[in-house]
Amino acid sequence: MPLTRKAYRAAILHSIADPAEVGIEASYEYFEDGLLVVDNGQISALGHASELLASLPADIEITHYQDALITPGFIDTHIHLPQTGMVGAYGEQLLDWLNTYTFPCESQFADQVHAEEVAGIFIKELLRNGTTTALVFGSVHPQSVNAFFEAAQKLDLRMIAGKVMMDRNAPDYLIDTAESSYLESKALIERWHGKGRLHYAVTPRFAPTSTPEQLTLAGQLLGEYPDLYMQTHISENLQEVEWVKELFPERKGYLDVYDHYQLLGERSVFAHGVHLCDDECARLAQTGSAVAFCPTSNLFLGSGLFNLPMAEKHKLNVGLGTDVGGGTSFSLLQTLNEAYKVMQLQGARLSPFKSLYLATLGGARALRLEERIGTLQPGTDADFLVLDYNATPLLSYRLKQSKSIAETLFVLMTLGDDRTVAQTYAAGNLVHQR
Ligand code: GUN
Ligand code: ZN
Repeated sequence: MPLTRKAYRAAILHSIADPAEVGIEASYEYFEDGLLVVDNGQISALGHASELLASLPADIEITHYQDALITPGFIDTHIHLPQTGMVGAYGEQLLDWLNTYTFPCESQFADQVHAEEVAGIFIKELLRNGTTTALVFGSVHPQSVNAFFEAAQKLDLRMIAGKVMMDRNAPDYLIDTAESSYLESKALIERWHGKGRLHYAVTPRFAPTSTPEQLTLAGQLLGEYPDLYMQTHISENLQEVEWVKELFPERKGYLDVYDHYQLLGERSVFAHGVHLCDDECARLAQTGSAVAFCPTSNLFLGSGLFNLPMAEKHKLNVGLGTDVGGGTSFSLLQTLNEAYKVMQLQGARLSPFKSLYLATLGGARALRLEERIGTLQPGTDADFLVLDYNATPLLSYRLKQSKSIAETLFVLMTLGDDRTVAQTYAAGNLVHQR
């Protein structure tokens, strides 16, 4: 295959470390007039245009974006494909919300045609919002995951997904059995895990909807294949936490249920964790597990405020999740807008560079994919965005007053949304153009 080499010139910003570990100034690289060179879907060079241009052949194709910022693609570490059609469902908190809206909506995915239609809409929405990698819950039906992976594969996206396992405390029309969930997950793993840029996640919905037998088999699957992911929910809502104590009285607490069934580990991502205690954060960190911070969902469902400083104290890996349809936006920019407010309500700060980290490199680290995505380092996948400073009249006017990249970044995260994402590139291919 001939080498395809292209270059992109614009302001360029990426996170290179966690500001909580190295301080803000050492956490990012910014090139006011930068150049990103892409060879066959991978980044081959990044630097100041003035320095890099001289090293490139005269006939190289250079796309110059004015009034724009190139960043790595965003990483959503928690989202539900089959809840696309029920975002913004009124009036309930978690457990009633699941019964009233979520389960009926997810039941539609028994129909293959419906699953394919929604998978197409969902992936388009991710890319319109600049999300190039997501950790995705399917429904209980394997066809939801097949439809998603087929659509993602066509665009060569790096995506992770799994079929929900749930064999109790949900309507009869939506449950599997411990054995069927094991066999169906296994078939999906064999078909998709490690194919191109796709990965499989074993997906027990949450402790209340799995029997001990099902949790045992989920743990067994993780032992049977290398590099599998595990995703579930934890300590999102106080009623939920109490219910888990009633269902598993022999365990020390919510996290201990998952620990007992060997579901913690370096590729395990626990959504929410709003009501985790100090010991649980320590145990998550000790096992290399990660938490998905989902601020729009936590506010919308009235779940509570995630304690990011406590997670940082334990050096716990944290990514950002939209948690659509409990969350209200596919946009990680809007998710950061709400994350900032969640910190404000706790008397804490979320700096724009920590926010950038959470949406990119932090997410990649939570998923153990930092060698491939989350930065613009040469040698990584060319998954990147072009953010448009003139996306809306207000953004344009506001950014003209900006005196620094820190201010520009913060305003992008406060006022920005899908309109801000002018182009999305995945593996060097243009996969969304506004
Ligand atoms: N806990 C168990 N299932 C779900 C779900 O679908 N969404 C959220 N936000 N929490 C859950
Ligand atoms: Zn969720």
